[in-house]
Amino acid sequence: MKIVLACDHGGFELKEAVKAHLEKKGYEINDIGVHDIKSVDYPDYGKKAAEMVAVGIAEKGIVICGTGIGISIAANKVKGARCALCTNEYMARMSIMHNDANMLALGNRVIGQGAALDIVDVWLSSEFEGGRHADRVNKLMEIENN
Ligand code: RB5
Repeated sequence: MKIVLACDHGGFELKEAVKAHLEKKGYEINDIGVHDIKSVDYPDYGKKAAEMVAVGIAEKGIVICGTGIGISIAANKVKGARCALCTNEYMARMSIMHNDANMLALGNRVIGQGAALDIVDVWLSSEFEGGRHADRVNKLMEIENN
């Protein structure tokens, strides 16, 4: 599975940890930066990662900033993105089972690295339930057309 990873300077350390973790597990990672802690603007990175997911260059995206808030807002402004900011494993599981999230946002300054990697694992191994949830996700995506 191809996964795009993106972060701003606030998310850099966690992005590096997520990258190493997922590469060890055999995932194909496209790391679009940042590659150091020089200050950048998170909207640029959230937007670029979400565009790659929206057009299918990557199947899923993981975006990280200090809180996870700014970069998730940016990603969710791209048509086709469903980016879920998760701070625990329950949210990660539900964001797939009920919301079919195609992007995960994490806050490097909010949760510890161990918790973040567990969230990533749960998020990647959960499955969309479909059924009534598919109708709701379709309604969500319809909002983009209005
Ligand atoms: C950068 O200082 C910080 O504002 C950013 O990483 C993020 O937390 C924004 O939502």
